[in-house]
Amino acid sequence: MHSYAIRRRDRTLVNHHSTVKNFFMAKIIVIANQKGGVGKTTTAINLSATVAAAEFKTLLIDIDPQSNSTSGLGIERNSLSVYQVLIGLEPAENCIVNSYMPYLDILPSNIDLVGAEVEMVSIENREYLLKNALQHIRSDYDFIFIDCPPSLGLLTLNALTSADSVLIPVQCEYFALEGLGQLLNTINVVKKNFNEPLSIEGVLLTMFDTRLRLSNQVVEEVKKYFGSKVFQTIIHRNVRLSEAPSHSKPVILYDASSVGAQNYISLASELLQRNNLQKMEKIVE
Ligand SMILES: Nc1ncnc2c1ncn2[C@@H]1O[C@H](COP(=O)(O)OP(=O)(O)OP(=O)(O)O)[C@@H](O)[C@H]1O
Ligand SMILES: [Mg+2]
Repeated sequence: MHSYAIRRRDRTLVNHHSTVKNFFMAKIIVIANQKGGVGKTTTAINLSATVAAAEFKTLLIDIDPQSNSTSGLGIERNSLSVYQVLIGLEPAENCIVNSYMPYLDILPSNIDLVGAEVEMVSIENREYLLKNALQHIRSDYDFIFIDCPPSLGLLTLNALTSADSVLIPVQCEYFALEGLGQLLNTINVVKKNFNEPLSIEGVLLTMFDTRLRLSNQVVEEVKKYFGSKVFQTIIHRNVRLSEAPSHSKPVILYDASSVGAQNYISLASELLQRNNLQKMEKIVE
């Protein structure tokens, strides 16, 4: 039996129980799609914040040189970032910062990451750098989310190699499925060579526009292709979601009553349910 996440206060109990001491590990979910602007960062910020608001200890890793998750949560871009962690200059715990939400930490990105892929090529076991760096902090969290750049390079490969599952945001627009074959291929290559248990957490439809017939067509098409892998929650196009990062806030703190906030609360709840958290809480009984 393998359990990932459990409420922190319950985990204290688990940790006191010697037979299950090393049993607990955060579930690592990577948010990936090499297509740009599909809602990866919006999902990374808001899903992390909502899961953290439910008191699950959460780490958001920003592995994108654009650093949008980092700045969207108001984290100063300083010299310590996931870059130092990847190339082995610093242990992860030295670079992790607390957000202003009690259950949410960030491993920030900065511009140094632009050169990281080139530097990483010459490092031994280059696909495993992130996985190895996270090994000893994994038990500090319930969930770890990773926000990827819009490419399938070595940074995304490291994220996929370290993860339990992939969440794929798909924008409700023309050519929504375009490029997904390439992503699924990459996931299969990673499974075959670096991380056999990697699974698809779910496909998330984003930027749904109720006024557009096209949005409904895309939903149908994606459901036909991915079946039950598609999250029932659909993220609607909502201006509050695009405004929140400029106020350095996740949408639940910026405008909790907005459609965007409600959508991400619903997504977090669906994710927790899919991971059978009720069952996991029984472990401590
Ligand atoms: N549901 C939404 N409603 C309105 N605007 C949204 C929504 N989701 C994302 N956006 C906006 O669309 C743009 C792209 O979103 P986001 O940055 O999350 O995509 P991304 O996949 O991370 O992009 P990149 O590939 O560049 O990293 C941003 O300006 C964001 O604020
Ligand atoms: Mg992004």
